[in-house]
Amino acid sequence: MIVGSIKENITLEKRVSLTPESAKNIIGLGLKVCVEKGYAIHLGINDNKYKDVGVEIKESSKEVLHLSDLITKVNCPSEEEIETLKNDSILIGMLNPSKNKNQIDKIINKKIKLFSLEFLPRITRAQSMDVLSSQSNLAGYRAVVDCVAEFEKAVPMMMTAAGTVPAAKVLVIGAGVAGLQAIATAKRLGAIVSATDVRAASKEQVESLGGKFLSVEQKEDMETAGGYAKEASDEYKKKQAELMKEALKKNDIVICTALIPGKPAPRILTEDLVKLMKPGSIVYDLAAEQGGNSAFSEAGKINLVDGIKIIGVKNLMNSLPLTASSLYAKNLFSFIRNLYSKEKKDFNVNLEDEIIEKSLINKV
Ligand code: NAI
Repeated sequence: MIVGSIKENITLEKRVSLTPESAKNIIGLGLKVCVEKGYAIHLGINDNKYKDVGVEIKESSKEVLHLSDLITKVNCPSEEEIETLKNDSILIGMLNPSKNKNQIDKIINKKIKLFSLEFLPRITRAQSMDVLSSQSNLAGYRAVVDCVAEFEKAVPMMMTAAGTVPAAKVLVIGAGVAGLQAIATAKRLGAIVSATDVRAASKEQVESLGGKFLSVEQKEDMETAGGYAKEASDEYKKKQAELMKEALKKNDIVICTALIPGKPAPRILTEDLVKLMKPGSIVYDLAAEQGGNSAFSEAGKINLVDGIKIIGVKNLMNSLPLTASSLYAKNLFSFIRNLYSKEKKDFNVNLEDEIIEKSLINKV
């Protein structure tokens, strides 16, 4: 059985789905691995690094697609690439089926089994495969680094002979995977950090990282059985806006990470709320590509409103593609290890396995 991977569209996506390390692990399972020439050269990883662990280098993407029983990708393949995919093969990636409907339909017509890793269940056994967590954790870190680069003041408190510099105040809205890493990173840099979340359970996690939790009083449990947030009621939104009013006046940097799976991003910061911030402040919106948690945020742009910078994030993983690829490729290896049966020497699409059943898009 051959596992193959082809280049992504490098103008949009710098990550790769196979690293030399993950390829070595896949070969260790008893599989063959091939990639196209110059596969990860843009990341400084030359073909020899792959060859050294036993990967075969093919002249073209067509050759890889034609040969492989299982293709790994970060994003959905292009229509042209789909033409060359082998019938009855397997494709694994973050395929975003709602956005790539045409491509997905074409792939399904070729009887290719499609696994989209965004749909993995968030259960203990799937933790090592959880691409959303591995990438969001990096997003939370990078959010703080980007904010600090844009912020025109120092972040930690400094007592010098020339005077005292106060510590910057950072507010994180949404304390999930990205939010918690943002809190930890901002704390490490010496900021005074507070955070809010609809899930009461996140209070303890925020506090364990040294952040102050800002809670909105509520009677209802806002967490689903799967650990995700429920959509906030109008009454909740009103109370949250009151809480934000005071917090926004005091904070220098606001990092927005609020997400409800399958829904547009909850709009938490209205125009009026954003304008309460001091000139020189920053709003960093990680949800900009899903509609934004904040007014004035646009994916891929920095908008300046009354001296406040509103940063709308786009393709954030392209800012740290090596680390993002390394973690993504490890997630993929864990998924392939679970899918491959060493005894049968074949991929085993066992629909009784929750991991396989939930991530397989075409179940028939
Ligand atoms: P997550 O589901 O782990 O965390 C989201 C948090 O928001 C949850 O704790 C939830 O309870 C909270 N939340 C939901 N509604 C809220 C509300 N009204 N008020 C306060 N909190 C609320 O999600 P994760 O993985 O941390 O992702 C966060 C955001 O970052 C998402 O929008 C995601 O798409 C984005 N992201 C963007 C990347 C990029 O490259 N642009 C990469 C990774 C993540």
